[in-house]
Amino acid sequence: MKRFTLSILVFLCIQSFSNCIAQAGGRERLLMDAGWKFSQTDTVGAEKAAFNDSRWRTLNLPHDWSIEHDFIQDAPTGGGGGYLPTGVGWYRKQFTIPRSALSKVVWIEFDGVYQNSDVWINGHHLGRYPNGYMSFHYDLTPHLKAGNNTITVRVDNSRQPNTRWYSGSGIYRHVWLNIAHPLHIAQWGTYITTPQVDAAKATVQIKTTVNNRKAVSGTATLRSVIVDEVGKEVGRTESAVSLKSGTDTTIVSHEIQVATPVLWSLEKPHMYSIWSLVIDKGKVIDEVATPFGIRHIEYDADKGFLLNGKRIKMKGVCLHHDAGSVGAAVPESMWVRRLQILKDMGCNAIRTSHNPMAPEFLDLCDRMGFLVQNEVYDVWLAGKAKYDYAVYFKEWSQRDLVNFIHRDRNHPSVVLWSAGNEIGEQGQPKGYEVLRPLIETFHREDPTRPVTTGNDHIADDNSPTTPEFLSMLDIVGYNYVDRWRDRRELFYDIDKRNNPGWKMIGTENVSISGVRGNYFGGGYGRIDSSVIQPANLPGVIRAEQLWKFTAVHDYVIGDFMWTGIDYLGEARWPSKNSSSGVIDLCGFPKDAYYFYKSQWTDQPMIHLAPHWNWNGREGKVIPVMAYTNCDTVELFLNGKSFGAKSVQFPRPGNAGAWNRYAVTPVGTTTADLHLIWDVPYEPGILKAVGRKGGKTIVEEEIRTTGAPAAFRLSVDRSKIEADATNVAHVKIEVVDKDGNIVPNAAESVQVIVEGAGRLIGLDNGNPVDHTSMKSDKRKTFNGLALAVVQPAIKPGTIRVTTRSSFLKNDSIEISTVKSGSAIRTLEQMQK
Ligand code: GAL
Repeated sequence: MKRFTLSILVFLCIQSFSNCIAQAGGRERLLMDAGWKFSQTDTVGAEKAAFNDSRWRTLNLPHDWSIEHDFIQDAPTGGGGGYLPTGVGWYRKQFTIPRSALSKVVWIEFDGVYQNSDVWINGHHLGRYPNGYMSFHYDLTPHLKAGNNTITVRVDNSRQPNTRWYSGSGIYRHVWLNIAHPLHIAQWGTYITTPQVDAAKATVQIKTTVNNRKAVSGTATLRSVIVDEVGKEVGRTESAVSLKSGTDTTIVSHEIQVATPVLWSLEKPHMYSIWSLVIDKGKVIDEVATPFGIRHIEYDADKGFLLNGKRIKMKGVCLHHDAGSVGAAVPESMWVRRLQILKDMGCNAIRTSHNPMAPEFLDLCDRMGFLVQNEVYDVWLAGKAKYDYAVYFKEWSQRDLVNFIHRDRNHPSVVLWSAGNEIGEQGQPKGYEVLRPLIETFHREDPTRPVTTGNDHIADDNSPTTPEFLSMLDIVGYNYVDRWRDRRELFYDIDKRNNPGWKMIGTENVSISGVRGNYFGGGYGRIDSSVIQPANLPGVIRAEQLWKFTAVHDYVIGDFMWTGIDYLGEARWPSKNSSSGVIDLCGFPKDAYYFYKSQWTDQPMIHLAPHWNWNGREGKVIPVMAYTNCDTVELFLNGKSFGAKSVQFPRPGNAGAWNRYAVTPVGTTTADLHLIWDVPYEPGILKAVGRKGGKTIVEEEIRTTGAPAAFRLSVDRSKIEADATNVAHVKIEVVDKDGNIVPNAAESVQVIVEGAGRLIGLDNGNPVDHTSMKSDKRKTFNGLALAVVQPAIKPGTIRVTTRSSFLKNDSIEISTVKSGSAIRTLEQMQK
């Protein structure tokens, strides 16, 4: 087998950005993020090429101007948008292109601009794009000149409120400049499916859209080559294409058989790529690489979801697109860290609630092995916020939907489409007429994946989701399945009995909710410091009951819990963010994270809550809670046992004969999925011993700490590549003199970043802390804070130091090395 020449480049590309195209065959795909001018004043005439922008600020994209501001209680976004200002902003970028590019086709591609963007090239208006979450592109070809050109973008996010939840403002995702031969593969012009897959062989079908912008008709050859993850060619085919002059578009179908394919799975998410080459008179004139996976998906009304014939329960979380301190402009490696933390919890599925994510987010899901329910809209015609997408739905929804499907349909991680979340039309008598054209478009543009919607009114007493609406869905999605009447006990059961053919999924369900490390109880919004609660028990119990049902009913495809991670917005002042995540805004797990870990992983674990610093409460009872996947846990305080308790789920019944068990039953002491002991407080060491089959398999300890003595820094990666997508996460802990983290420490700290990098966000996960995310000063919250540090392009050393007059400071070094990214930048081409 011969190695495909550019395969290593492809491989590197796949390691970094979505659909990255290496420079080959004359095609250029250039990252256009650097050196934009920006002004947050709405300026008359700024679209004109000759406009003087020398006083504007210079910055690099992705850029979210909202997160640069202070949180203000009367911001027009209100709590929905996290109390951050929005408004109008202008961006300008000068760039040069060589004369040789004038004979080519050139287009600009925006991964996402929030929102209502107007784009001009050299003063010529290219268009307005309302939707802030979609990717879109414009042809620049007729308006370019050799030498200097100017792109101007006006972003209007002034009309509020216009979305749920925090959107960010500005060009908050990447921008690309594409330069291709007039005879070329269209943007999002490859569509790859794997209609037949087994261990011995797979059939790969490729539909390629080829455009001819030349003034003459002609024929060319389209070649499709499949390479595996290490760049080895595993199959190819080619055919002649005949194209008329002008803007003729042809879709070419290819089929390639791959012997003994490595299937894409959650454990081994193997990615192949297709190289699509346009060849004219023996010369490659255009080339595009598209990553894809070979996998088979199936949904069965009784068995749920099957990947490559294997049943998989979706253990999912809903995620919003922001990442705390950086707002909506999220460097890729922040998602790497966040997704890894979710994976360690046992999560295997993500719902992109409620809008399209950045393209690289889906690349990561492909590479890290997640299933994705890819959601396109939060509203259709019936709006939820005064100026939301309902205003544009009639005119734009079909165009946007086609873009969305074309952009995302090659990702093996995407296994389910969602046409909408909690859509108002679900309960309207004719609401299904709005659903129908959306479903038709999904089915036409991608017949390989089913379509759902997240419905929250299925058993509503007043205006339930209509039967016509539900019967149109390939999969019936339930938001808050336990919301209505007896469904709190019966969940999906009634509908399943009445509609045995339905395929059912929990598109959004109960949050345990809570703030990391806060243990004051009270209930119903009251905070009472005399009551210590290790968890928000009503939330825990609802989550446990739902999980027990979901886990043992195969027909339930799975569940997406609201939410994996806290997100900005959906808050009521003084909170600025929702606390429904099991992970806080900094990415620090809360106790509830370990509930899911105990149920979703087999790795032996015990997690204890609350902390054990209760000075002044000596002798008073404190409930101590454990999440575990051990059979029994025995709790000790300072060596004294408080007894062993047992939890087992699912509990085994007899198998084969009376009094025989396939799995040894454990004498359970609770019907819940957590354990609790009442422990009179005394300072010291709380220790839990976890046993399985009588053997100790794990131990967990928490101890009373001393007073805060020092800051301690640690970093997730001490060596990073020097490009803007790679950040280092520096964890700031407050420790006592013995190095124990002080669990309730609120200590002021300044974070100094020197050398080859800069601080781009500093947060502590506290929803009511209104310090700007861009400040370098903050208080730790319950012992922790997180600094996000971005490397400069020139490699070197970054030094991060804490500064405080009260505690001992710490310092840490991060070395940055030359980026190995295969992404070409516009600046590299211009050199
Ligand atoms: C759901 C909605 C989400 C969020 C959640 C509560 O009904 O789909 O967007 O609002 O409730 O936090």
